[in-house]
Order: sequence, then C-alpha cells, then structure tokens
Amino acid sequence: MELDKAISSRKTIRKFQNRNIPDNYLYEIIQSAMLAPSAKNRQPWRFYILDDKQKEDITNMMYQWNKEYKDMHTSIKGSANQMKTANKAIMIFTPNYHSKNKKTYYKKPDYLSLGAAIENMNLKCFDLGLGCTWLCDTLYIEDEINKYLKLDDLEQVSTLIIGYPEEIPDRRERFSMNKLLLNNISKDDINNNE
Ligand SMILES: Cc1cc2nc3c(=O)[nH]c(=O)nc-3n(C[C@H](O)[C@H](O)[C@H](O)COP(=O)(O)O)c2cc1C
Repeated sequence: MELDKAISSRKTIRKFQNRNIPDNYLYEIIQSAMLAPSAKNRQPWRFYILDDKQKEDITNMMYQWNKEYKDMHTSIKGSANQMKTANKAIMIFTPNYHSKNKKTYYKKPDYLSLGAAIENMNLKCFDLGLGCTWLCDTLYIEDEINKYLKLDDLEQVSTLIIGYPEEIPDRRERFSMNKLLLNNISKDDINNNE
C-alpha cells in the first residue's frame, strides 16, 4: 500500500522552499540508489554531492550556455532556475569504460541500471517528505562540468536537485493503457485470467 501511494503520488517538484535539508537525508537517498538492481550487479553508479558554491557555479554555467546557444530553444534555463532554488544537488555519473574498452554491450544494461537507481532516489525523496527534479539538462554542459569538478573517466548521467517542496503540481497527463498496450487484450480478458 505504501509503495502504491509513493508511485502514484510522486511528482517532479520544480519549486522549493528556502530551507535546508539534513545531510543524513542525502546519504539515505544515495543508499536507496545503491540498492537498485543492476546488470551483472555492476553497480555502475557514482555520486557527487555538490556543495553550495559548486551548485551555484554550475547553475551559472547553464545560464551562460543558454545565452550562447539561445537559438537552440532548450529547457536549460528553466532547469537552471529550478537548480538555483533547490537546496541540494546530487550529480550521478557512470564509469566511462564504454569508450575506452569499446564494450558497447555494457552500455544499454548500464543505463537501465542507472535509471532504476535514480528512480529509487526519486521515490526515497518523496518518502522523506522532500521534492526533487530528475534533471538531464546538465548534460548540455557535461564536458564543462567534468572539467570543473576535475572528474576524469566518468560520464555524467543526470542530476537530482532536491529540496522541500514549495508547490505540488497537478499530475502530468499519462497516455491511456489502450495506446500503450501493443496487443488487443482487454481489461476483461486480464480479469478472466486471474
Ligand atoms: C531522464 C529524465 C530527464 C529529465 N530531465 C529533466 C530536465 O532536464 N528538466 C526538468 O525540469 N525535468 C526533467 N525531467 C522531469 C520530467 O519532465 C518529468 O518526469 C515528466 O514531465 C513527468 O512528470 P512527473 O515526474 O511529475 O510525473 C526529466 C525526467 C527524466 C526521467
């Protein structure tokens, strides 16, 4: 029941209160990611908790990129605005062994594992009464961020920005099951098979 509530009530939070979240919450969130399933148990996740200065500098790098590439009409400025007001940010990286060893068959399974880990973080935030946005807009400046954080041989995957929610948005619409189910099994058929 509790899991059901978390899955159905979790929403991306884009407005945050000006309020600190306890450091131990960050470790709990990372621990939830560490428990996710992963292909061959490779656990291809690495985490970087940004301090306030790093969060501010990276936000400014996003604004700067937006200025330079404003014709591209991306959502990076909106994401930077959100990141600015979020209390904390955890960046998620993966070891960059793909390009080095050309082991491309690792790639998809590892990204899937990373998605599972980040969804655990999403749900854990909700469980702790926090809100978060799973951001990929920091990928526009992934090389700059690697250089800035002095990270070699790691590939950025996402950033989770976290804070106490200021506003809970309405549920964003989902496609109907009819659109998503690729065969023609009706609900009645499913019920009859139970
Ligand atoms: C892989 C991924 C990348 C995302 N990147 C961004 C982002 O860069 N900026 C943002 O505001 N939201 C981002 N989101 C949040 C989605 O917009 C959001 O999950 C979607 O609109 C559904 O809304 P919900 O999470 O409230 O159900 C991302 C979500 C995922 C899963």
